Amino acid sequence: MKNGNYRLIIIVPLIFIGAIRCTYYTNPVEDIVIPPPPLAYVGSEACKSCHEGIYETFKKSGHPYVHAKVEDGKPPEYPFTSIDFVPPHFSNKWDDITYVIGGFAWKYHFTDNDGYIYTGEDAQYNFQNQSAVSFHADEAPGTKKFTCGRCHTTGWKSIEDGGAPKDDLPGMGGDYFTGGVQCEACHGMGSVHAFTRSPDDIESVSDATLCGQCHYRNEDHSIAAANGFIKHNTQFDELQSAGHKTLACVSCHNPHASVQHGQTEGIIKECTECHDDLKNPTHRGADCVTCHMPNATKSAVVTNKYVADISTHIFKINPDEDGEMFNEDGTIAKGETGVTLGYVCYQCHKDSEGVGGDKSTKTLKQLSDLAKDFHE
Ligand code: HEC
Ligand code: HEC
Ligand code: HEC
Ligand code: HEC
Ligand code: HEC
Ligand code: HEC
Ligand code: HEC
Ligand code: HEC
Repeated sequence: MKNGNYRLIIIVPLIFIGAIRCTYYTNPVEDIVIPPPPLAYVGSEACKSCHEGIYETFKKSGHPYVHAKVEDGKPPEYPFTSIDFVPPHFSNKWDDITYVIGGFAWKYHFTDNDGYIYTGEDAQYNFQNQSAVSFHADEAPGTKKFTCGRCHTTGWKSIEDGGAPKDDLPGMGGDYFTGGVQCEACHGMGSVHAFTRSPDDIESVSDATLCGQCHYRNEDHSIAAANGFIKHNTQFDELQSAGHKTLACVSCHNPHASVQHGQTEGIIKECTECHDDLKNPTHRGADCVTCHMPNATKSAVVTNKYVADISTHIFKINPDEDGEMFNEDGTIAKGETGVTLGYVCYQCHKDSEGVGGDKSTKTLKQLSDLAKDFHE
């Protein structure tokens, strides 16, 4: 052992004794004020002691699980789903896997023992149709870096920004405090607040830009699209595009609660609390959300050309029979003109080719006749 280390052995306990003394005794002469700890991440468990209700609600939402560690050769545990599928590529099963990405609602991916995201024909597992599908199969396994941390971890620092690869794994594109969108991903580092308990020492941003840091895709906030559907994680871009641009996400959402797995706590305001005087509020079993938030967005599974698996946040409906949803090459959805009738009405009705739901066949012209001035 080098000399410096001996010195540490003596100094470190002295600091500890000092700290304990400061906590329990105040000097009657100088009235020592205990300084708060340096600003740092402390983790969601540290918030639990004083915010237990919020913590329990939050643990039933998707945010904390989006990058979950595999420990002791067992898959991570989730509140509503179980992670059972392991691609044959991993011959030692969970011993060959370091993290699961996703796994709460729609789908999941894996990172291998070097931290790379596993790619191939069976690299993504979808819950809805219980099948493994292709994910970046054109890239060889062991080459796709984990660069998802900005939105899937807490305290992310990419290699470009000077972060060392997490746990020295070459596939990790950065460092982070912990996996998942934890309390401090939205509220900032909490060590000082947990000590002072003061609201002045913790961030609490309520406007849509907070959620917009992750729930967006294109830097110009155009709405990314592909293969006839809006791409997922675009809610902020969608919201900005039409009549709800003045709302915050938390105008409707409880930021700590989920909207998945039948949980209703996640929505704190019904549509009719702000729109209370509309004629025809429903239509044959369709309510506001059915028509104005159809699954025009795709995360994992497409049912037919009108139905994917995420509710759009454009809200506006285009009642024209020849309405166009996308730009010419299909890469951008035109939120400002609204969701076109196919996505709204063919979830139940059938088009003239028989594609759609199990209700009566309607041409776009017939749909448009009812849709125009629907609430007047
Ligand atoms: C030792 C108890 C304690 C711990 C630990 C604690 N808090 Fe708090 N927190 C409080 C109290 C007390 C308030 C209420 C302050 C008030 O309303 O005056 C509060 C308020 C807040 C607020 C509201 C701030 C505002 O502007 O109104 C947020 C956000 C918050 N805490 C987040 C956190 C997070 C995140 C953590 C974990 C990193 C955490 N708290 C840990 C005691 C604690
Ligand atoms: C700009 C932020 C952002 C980045 C970067 C990002 N994601 Fe996501 N991801 C999200 C958001 C937001 C959601 C949930 C909302 C949605 O899908 O519409 C999501 C959802 C997911 C889900 C589904 C979760 C579930 O429970 O079903 C998976 C899997 C996923 N992302 C994987 C990845 C992978 C792999 C990467 C990196 C290659 C990545 N994401 C990069 C923001 C991001
Ligand atoms: C996805 C982002 C996000 C996460 C994750 C998150 N919060 Fe919040 N939190 C918010 C927002 C936004 C508000 C303000 C809500 C409003 O203004 O209506 C808030 C408000 C609060 C408040 C004050 C208001 C209240 O509801 O009592 C406390 C305390 C709080 N959060 C604690 C926590 C704790 C503890 C955790 C983790 C267990 C956590 N938050 C995780 C976004 C988040
Ligand atoms: C917090 C209040 C609030 C809530 C909750 C709310 N809205 Fe709105 N909505 C507004 C405001 C404000 C506007 C813009 C002004 C207007 O046209 O009334 C708007 C506009 C709209 C528009 C017209 C959009 C456009 O671009 O022309 C639609 C459609 C709509 N809302 C549907 C809904 C649906 C469906 C829900 C429930 C999922 C809902 N709203 C919940 C406040 C709200
Ligand atoms: C640091 C990035 C980040 C921020 C900030 C963020 N989210 Fe998310 N959000 C995600 C990711 C990643 C997912 C995918 C989680 C999953 O597996 O379902 C997600 C999923 C969701 C879901 C669907 C899953 C569920 O539990 O129902 C909702 C709703 C949601 N976010 C709302 C919000 C709201 C509202 C805010 C702002 C108050 C917000 N998010 C802020 C990254 C983020
Ligand atoms: C059968 C589907 C359907 C249902 C159910 C439905 N809407 Fe609509 N809504 C439409 C269509 C189609 C339009 C477009 C009308 C137009 O542009 O001429 C529209 C337009 C709107 C508008 C724009 C302003 C207006 O009056 O045209 C608002 C706001 C709105 N709906 C809110 C709601 C709310 C809130 C609910 C639930 C109480 C609801 N809608 C239920 C189909 C529906
Ligand atoms: C006008 C109300 C309203 C606003 C504003 C709003 N949401 Fe939602 N959101 C909802 C409702 C209602 C649902 C549930 C839809 C359903 O049940 O199909 C939902 C569902 C979601 C989902 C899950 C999608 C799915 O298919 O399950 C995500 C993620 C989400 N919201 C994120 C956001 C984010 C991020 C923002 C802000 C950029 C936002 N929301 C703003 C009302 C709103
Ligand atoms: C939740 C399912 C559902 C959705 C979404 C839906 N419809 Fe219907 N619609 C029905 C049912 C059920 C009937 C009656 C039985 C049938 O026609 O098969 C019906 C009947 C109709 C009729 C015949 C007249 C009537 O009222 O009975 C028209 C026209 C119509 N729908 C237009 C639309 C338009 C336009 C949209 C989209 C803006 C739409 N529907 C969305 C379920 C739906």
